[in-house]
Amino acid sequence: MSAAGPGPEVSGVLPDPAATRALGGALAALLEPGDLVVLTGPLGAGKTTLVQGMGEAMGVRGQVASPTFIIARVHPPLAGGPPLVHVDAYRLGSLDELEALDLDTSLEDSVTVVEWGEGLVEVLSADRLEVTLDRGHGGAAGEALGASVDEDVAVPRRVTVRGVGPRWAGVVLPGLAAQP
Ligand SMILES: Nc1ncnc2c1ncn2[C@@H]1O[C@H](COP(=O)(O)OP(=O)(O)OP(=O)(O)O)[C@@H](O)[C@H]1O
Ligand SMILES: [Mg+2]
Repeated sequence: MSAAGPGPEVSGVLPDPAATRALGGALAALLEPGDLVVLTGPLGAGKTTLVQGMGEAMGVRGQVASPTFIIARVHPPLAGGPPLVHVDAYRLGSLDELEALDLDTSLEDSVTVVEWGEGLVEVLSADRLEVTLDRGHGGAAGEALGASVDEDVAVPRRVTVRGVGPRWAGVVLPGLAAQP
């Protein structure tokens, strides 16, 4: 068996929330039942915003929101396509807990998106799409504000999308703007 090479990776800048949503929509077009997306990034980085764009593009029921007090929410498809399972791994101690939730859909039939999933869900699937969002590195405004950026101040986000595993080998990821 030959070792798989590094998967596809794209990086760029998301100038505003609409761009974050649009990336979610573009990624949704690539997603199939059984796929796992892992979102990483500090508080307020734009993880939920990205999932909102995915939900819109997938045509699923219900408002995609921060899963406060909820570990996982299932958004069923309005027409065709897989359900979107939105998981907040921050409140999840282990993967066993996700399985134990007994969601009314199986993960093989769904697109599963996990916020704060880094280091927790990798064992769930060798194939995964990793999206890393960060604030404060998007050019002059971000540099000046640094890490103490106020949540309400709209600074561009840096984003990296990486496909891991055979599922993503050879998949062309959406192009991203290098500058806001
Ligand atoms: N590219 C962007 N540029 C500027 N602001 C953005 C961008 N993307 C999202 N935002 C804004 O950042 C704020 C936080 O977004 P969001 O709730 O999606 O973050 P989060 O990573 O899910 O946060 P949490 O860690 O609390 O779950 C929102 O006000 C959103 O509109
Ligand atoms: Mg969130």
